[in-house]
Amino acid sequence: MAQDMTTQSQRRLTVNINDGPRPFSAPKIAAVIREMGWRSALLGSLLFASEFLRSWWWDRLHNVTTRHPIPLSKLDLVGPSSSHAVFYQATGTKFLPSLLRRLDIQYSHFSFVDIGAGKGKMMLLAAEFPFRRIVGVELSRSLSDLAQRNCKSFRSKKKACGNFEVLCRDAAEFTFPNGPLVIYMFNPFDDVVLAQMLSKLASAIRQQACQIFLIYNNPLHRNVVCSSGPFERVLQGTDKWDYRKLRYEVYRSRIEENPQSQKQQ
Ligand SMILES: C[S@@+](CC[C@H](N)C(=O)[O-])C[C@H]1O[C@@H](n2cnc3c(N)ncnc32)[C@H](O)[C@@H]1O
Repeated sequence: MAQDMTTQSQRRLTVNINDGPRPFSAPKIAAVIREMGWRSALLGSLLFASEFLRSWWWDRLHNVTTRHPIPLSKLDLVGPSSSHAVFYQATGTKFLPSLLRRLDIQYSHFSFVDIGAGKGKMMLLAAEFPFRRIVGVELSRSLSDLAQRNCKSFRSKKKACGNFEVLCRDAAEFTFPNGPLVIYMFNPFDDVVLAQMLSKLASAIRQQACQIFLIYNNPLHRNVVCSSGPFERVLQGTDKWDYRKLRYEVYRSRIEENPQSQKQQ
């Protein structure tokens, strides 16, 4: 009932893709057409097909393997956070570079961190920008090994940063690097792990007064970020290249409220 009362735009706001890649079937396609209408379903199919080709071509061009989704049942996840994880699926190829351009920051002052880095595609796309360092944090050993291999084999004329580090770590226990950060998350886990990770991030913000941007793609648990305190939302929108029309939000740390930053000024 509550579901029925949500508006179309609310339904589009976020997409719950926690369970694993969804196989196509005729009844599912018919249901999508019924719900969305022919025009939207056709546009969605075209966007899906173009991202399918784009990611295939991107992998070939850059000598890496990132495109196939992997369901949770096939991921070697261990530890307390494993039951809170979302399966592997790469973000679309166009999303991150266009968003990073909009941040209007001096990239060389910032480290880029992908939380739930998977096979490392977002790390490689971030390498088009002259970041100080690019870090990927991934819970699955096999995915983090593959991300490491991808970072080594990656070839690109646009490469502006080659300082990669892939860590096989639980984000809930990750200690964030010092200095200004751009953190990326493609809905990697549920609200439980997100709250744990944000509390570590909040203490990093309190200790060192530097700017942190948090890009949250498909922000299913945005309420956890909004209630965590040190962030203000600076951007939001829809990934126009994604066939699901995924939402994103960008937050910035409120460093002016940090007592240590005031001491240093
Ligand atoms: C949706 S994929 C995103 C992949 C990549 N960031 C991208 O956008 O292309 C989510 C990834 O988060 C990882 N993950 C889930 N829980 C995690 C945790 N607690 N710590 C680190 N990684 C985690 C999963 O193994 C999966 O590879």
